[in-house]
Amino acid sequence: MSLDLDKRQRAMLREMGVRIWQPPPAAAAVPSAIDSVAAYASLAEAEARFDAERQRPPAPAVRPPAATPAPAARAPAAPAPGLAPRPAGIELMAWPALQVAVAGCRACALCTSRKNTVFGVGPEAGEAAPVVDWLIVGEAPGEMEDLAGEPFVGQAGKLLDNMLLALRLQRGNDDALRPGVAKNIFITNVLKCRPPANRNPDPAEVAQCEPYLKRQVELLQPKMILALGKFAAQSLLQDSVPDVQKIPLGKLRGQVHRYLGVPVVVSYHPAYLLRSLGDKAKAWDDLCLAMTQLKT
Ligand code: URA
Repeated sequence: MSLDLDKRQRAMLREMGVRIWQPPPAAAAVPSAIDSVAAYASLAEAEARFDAERQRPPAPAVRPPAATPAPAARAPAAPAPGLAPRPAGIELMAWPALQVAVAGCRACALCTSRKNTVFGVGPEAGEAAPVVDWLIVGEAPGEMEDLAGEPFVGQAGKLLDNMLLALRLQRGNDDALRPGVAKNIFITNVLKCRPPANRNPDPAEVAQCEPYLKRQVELLQPKMILALGKFAAQSLLQDSVPDVQKIPLGKLRGQVHRYLGVPVVVSYHPAYLLRSLGDKAKAWDDLCLAMTQLKT
């Protein structure tokens, strides 16, 4: 299958620093890291434009043991004034009910500072969940996502869109007509509400939000989950990878994990990639691994 892009569209993608994904020939390896460096070199420009959306430094290679939360720390926080228990029966909800439940959730303090909940974005859905092959899981909405009610709309989101375009994927509500580019992708986050000042998600907040993500996966039944960043990786792999909190993200890459039976590939968060040009090559390798796994 070849990508049916005309000259102008190819030039546009080149301008954005996007290399078109080509299916590997039988028994051929995924593109080498050297190719990938070239593919993303022009994204140095994007790094220069990277705004204050994500100010925090990249995750340390190894978490200091003292900062590692014990599994018990993931227990839901006690309801505080103005909060309410999570809606009952999430595990049985259909897609529309799940959307309503997230929109009205007051199970943690993030509901008091959010402007919008961010359920996720994908192809239009009715009673049933959208039909998608891919699920992208990020960390949490930032300021722009909180305002827009949509995940990954800031600079990190632009990089994500470019990376997806290189795989011939685009988000479901993108009206631009791109022949050969599929919209069979749903994008969401571990947290559905923005942590104030873009701080890291709190373990209790992750615990409160977890059933929503779990139900999304059950209903979407994607063929591949791409976990972007350590919070997505830890949240999805906590039951399958012992001591996942202690494992550096880099060590979770390069293999196919499972969440509820769905293959999971771990990669770097796009906000981190905007500051770390060298790791964009590795992220491209992760995408190729995910694509190759999905095709097989
Ligand atoms: N970073 C995330 O992890 N998710 C978003 O939606 C935006 C930025």
